[in-house]
Amino acid sequence: MFTTLNQSLAFHQSPEAFISSRLQELSAKKSGSFLSTIGEASITEASILNRQVHIVSSYRICRDILKADDLQTLESITSPSSNVLGSNIFSIGPAYRQLMKDWFGEQNILLEDAQVHTQHKEAWKRQTASLPADLEPQIRRIAREFITSTFLPGKKIDLYETLKTLAWRLLLSAFLALDADENNDIFEKVEQAQEELLRGQFSLFPVSINALFFQSARSRGLRARQLLQQILSKHIQMQNPARCPLLRRTEVDRDDIANHCLLFTSSIANKALSSLLTATMMNIFLMPNQNLAALLATQPEETRAVTLRSILLETERLSPPVVGVMRRVEEDIVLKDGTAGKGHMVSNGHDVWLYFVGAARDESVFKDAQKFHFDRFMSDATPHGFAFAAGRKTCLGNDTVRMMVFVVAEEMLKANIELRGEPQSEGVQVWLGWKATTGPQAIAKDLKQLPCQRPRLPVWVEVSETR
Ligand code: HEM
Repeated sequence: MFTTLNQSLAFHQSPEAFISSRLQELSAKKSGSFLSTIGEASITEASILNRQVHIVSSYRICRDILKADDLQTLESITSPSSNVLGSNIFSIGPAYRQLMKDWFGEQNILLEDAQVHTQHKEAWKRQTASLPADLEPQIRRIAREFITSTFLPGKKIDLYETLKTLAWRLLLSAFLALDADENNDIFEKVEQAQEELLRGQFSLFPVSINALFFQSARSRGLRARQLLQQILSKHIQMQNPARCPLLRRTEVDRDDIANHCLLFTSSIANKALSSLLTATMMNIFLMPNQNLAALLATQPEETRAVTLRSILLETERLSPPVVGVMRRVEEDIVLKDGTAGKGHMVSNGHDVWLYFVGAARDESVFKDAQKFHFDRFMSDATPHGFAFAAGRKTCLGNDTVRMMVFVVAEEMLKANIELRGEPQSEGVQVWLGWKATTGPQAIAKDLKQLPCQRPRLPVWVEVSETR
């Protein structure tokens, strides 16, 4: 039997292995066999960070929880006592506050619920409506300069680390109009302080049982947050809107922008973007038996854009950078996928954690769910994965991030280079959907899943000119 501390620790080390082992325990008690969350739509209970948590890896249940406020009928959620469900079945603030409040503040749309959230989010949507289009030229310029000076024929490159450097340049340019070369001093300060903040934030998980280490990571993180707040508020107040597209509209005030820039330029946003860029480039350039870079190169521009969008959506589905999200349940409910069985009871006050990796590989929703099919999203009928969540709390940056990944992919293709890499380990191949899973061990061994997914070991690639 796991203790609460062991469960938190095991979850932090590998969510996939943790959830799978719980499902196996469950299947020993009940009929049916669960080998892995991947391909198995299911729910498992655990005690993590002193909370009673129900981890969901069914696509339909995840969708209904994310869209509970918007859908007319909820297929998979019912009330155990009456036919009527309340209007706010799930809240987000209580689920996230412990992890987020000290680091990103309470005045933050991510932590807000109900009416306050709706109004604030609408203002932010208007503020950022034209951001992807406004930012595209500068993102293209930065991507092109970085690729042509870094991906040089004959060079051997650590793909994730290299794309992480690019991701910092893209994010700090997009939200703070900072250039890594021109504003080197402040650029480096923000990057380093954001990394310190994240180390402090994640010291909440008992990664090390050493209380001294725990304390110092946390206090260093809090100091980094203070420094960032000072830098960001001064920087945003002084910015000229002509240079910074984020400031062109005045739907939210500058203090609100400075507060939110702490989140927009966070190390977690950087790691998520780096993860998505790495998975995308691996799929385009390194997939065994399918050279997508060569295929894209032969296509006329319009077809190429459609194919590339499908590749990006398939990458998001199989390899979401953020493995899942949390919600607090505000009334007793029953979750049920399909018509068989009694369903799974979740009591008021418990958490549901939506495990996107499992949900997006739900065989009852996606044909050949575990495998990467580059053309899966050429048809609009295919439901999307949850890389950017769904419903009211959909990621505010999703269109901007998608533009960035699309533009980087286009510029990589234009650079006339090929990437050659070692055969990838089994867990990395499963993460990308190049190989079906044989169990959770490979993922636990080869993939880091928190705070964002990425290969544990460097992905070395050798750059050469296109033949
Ligand atoms: C690859 C990069 C990113 C990924 C995978 C990602 C993913 C997500 C996810 C899954 C959520 C939903 C949280 C929940 O429902 O509990 C979210 C929310 C959010 N994201 Fe992102 N994000 C990324 C980058 C960004 C960037 C660059 C920004 C900057 C604008 C951003 C701003 C936000 C905000 C403000 C929310 C809260 C939205 C709300 O509560 O209504 N994200 N993101």
